[in-house]
Amino acid sequence: MSTFRERLRNLPIFPDGLPELDMSNLDTLPSTPHELFTAWFDDAVDAGLLAPHAMTLSTADSAGRVHARTVICKDLTDDGWWFAGHADSPKGRDLGANPHAALTFFWRELGRQVRIAGPATPDRASGAADFRERPAPSRAAGLVGVHRQSEPLGSLAEHDAVFAAELERAAADPDRIASTWTAWVLTPVEVEFWQTRVGRGQTRLRYRADEPAYTRHDKTLWTKELLWP
Ligand SMILES: Cc1cc2nc3c(=O)[nH]c(=O)nc-3n(C[C@H](O)[C@H](O)[C@H](O)COP(=O)(O)O)c2cc1C
Repeated sequence: MSTFRERLRNLPIFPDGLPELDMSNLDTLPSTPHELFTAWFDDAVDAGLLAPHAMTLSTADSAGRVHARTVICKDLTDDGWWFAGHADSPKGRDLGANPHAALTFFWRELGRQVRIAGPATPDRASGAADFRERPAPSRAAGLVGVHRQSEPLGSLAEHDAVFAAELERAAADPDRIASTWTAWVLTPVEVEFWQTRVGRGQTRLRYRADEPAYTRHDKTLWTKELLWP
């Protein structure tokens, strides 16, 4: 019987035949990270990956304690990468105390990771618009979380009763919005693209701006550099 450690060691890693990023001449690569991200995102969609828009959001509170969780990427605009959630959730409280955050995408089937770091800014109006676009069960799930997301739950039955009531109200009233629902936009300062090269190490490309890049079109803002893997 193998140990857990041995089972981990024996797991296969990436197969052959994954895409490669040609970094022999950085000038031939997109001049903004937004362009390369969009190209990689399209690759992830074309490859049929499940939830390619799911990303890890890492935040830290004022004492430096770090918290990470998965959220859905809602948009990529001139201002940056968007996500949404409750303002009074742990993530919302972290971001209120410390706007610096990081997003991580891992597209395992393509051997790719993208890391994005910068300050996140809340936008309640965009949050409300995002909420209205959600289907009723998803709005009900949001309404269930108002003022209590991540608080201890007594029983599943308690949840299910609240969910059923909220689902009925959400279906009847599409304008019923979770009062705490907020969108945030993370404006990038650094974006790093990581690509495995099976049997030959990895390649890492970092785009760096001296300050948060509030437009994705400003090509002069970004410094491109390779990183030691
Ligand atoms: C695939 C997936 C997508 C998720 N999308 C969101 C989302 O868009 N917004 C959100 O607030 N929570 C989302 N969650 C739930 C969060 O991971 C987390 O459980 C919740 O937001 C509470 O986090 P917090 O206590 O750190 O605030 C998602 C979870 C998964 C697994």
